[in-house]
Amino acid sequence: MKHLLSLEHLSRVDMDAILTATSDIKRRRGQPGPQPLAGQTWALIFAKSSTRTRVSFEVGLRELGANVMFLSAADIQLGRGEPIKDTARVLGRMVHGVVFRTFAQADVEEFARYANIPTINALTDEEHPCQILTDIFTFQEQRGPIQGKVVTFVGDGACNVPASWIFAAAKLGFELRIAAPKEFQPPLSLLERAGFNHVHAQQAPTGEVITGTLAATGGKIVLTADLQNAATGADLLYTDVWVSMGKEAEAAERIKVLTGYQINQALVKRARPGALVMHCLPAYRGKEIDDETFEAHAQTIFDEAENRLHTQKAIIAWLVG
Ligand code: CP
Repeated sequence: MKHLLSLEHLSRVDMDAILTATSDIKRRRGQPGPQPLAGQTWALIFAKSSTRTRVSFEVGLRELGANVMFLSAADIQLGRGEPIKDTARVLGRMVHGVVFRTFAQADVEEFARYANIPTINALTDEEHPCQILTDIFTFQEQRGPIQGKVVTFVGDGACNVPASWIFAAAKLGFELRIAAPKEFQPPLSLLERAGFNHVHAQQAPTGEVITGTLAATGGKIVLTADLQNAATGADLLYTDVWVSMGKEAEAAERIKVLTGYQINQALVKRARPGALVMHCLPAYRGKEIDDETFEAHAQTIFDEAENRLHTQKAIIAWLVG
């Protein structure tokens, strides 16, 4: 039984297979094609808000032939405390696959273990694998192979999106720079889990810089509070919201500490000429990105949003293939 629960446990071979299939699926959209889910019913269980993930999965599953039911976690007994493992065993007898957006990564893993049907992580507090596979597809569609390139993540470096980027950098062999205040940098244990070795800290005039490499793939990770240096020569500038879902109580403090960690025109000038700017959305203009930069790169950002649909259809086809 295959699941997509994290990029940590997705092999390079499988990542490449999904990314290659995505191109084909995108090109063939609208033409008569295979319906591998004909006769099946899939459930979307969402404990958090969503626009892109919900719509792209609902449309994608239908295009692959499935019936789809959307279940707000608050409206089913899960929201009243029914254990994950009981919910999983019920749904596993009734539906053919589940797309699950929730808080704890352990919950989506427990669901997959007990349901015994293909299960997809549609975002947890620890990972957002469908988003980052889409982002890599979008980069490669516009700029060619990501291997050897430089991706600079700006903002809250300790949340789910940069965590999935870390696992991708280790496997696909690119340099990931995370520009974040010290308290919003990912833990070193995450770099070790991703396989980075030779992790060491150096004191620079602008503060501590942590670097790790992975010789087998050519992957590199840099953690720094120095946004300007991190953006210099980057092929992709990427950001996400400063206040992730579930962190609303910390909003004021987060905005105070993260102010300045913004993608704007001055920062784009430091990147490589022709660098892409991407945002997984929703965007908060004036916070993690300014309006002028967002609108200047809107074509790429909304290509990225559209590509959620194509990439997730490739993920589903890989799961059931
Ligand atoms: N990027 C993303 O996951 O968007 P939604 O929260 O709207 O699904």
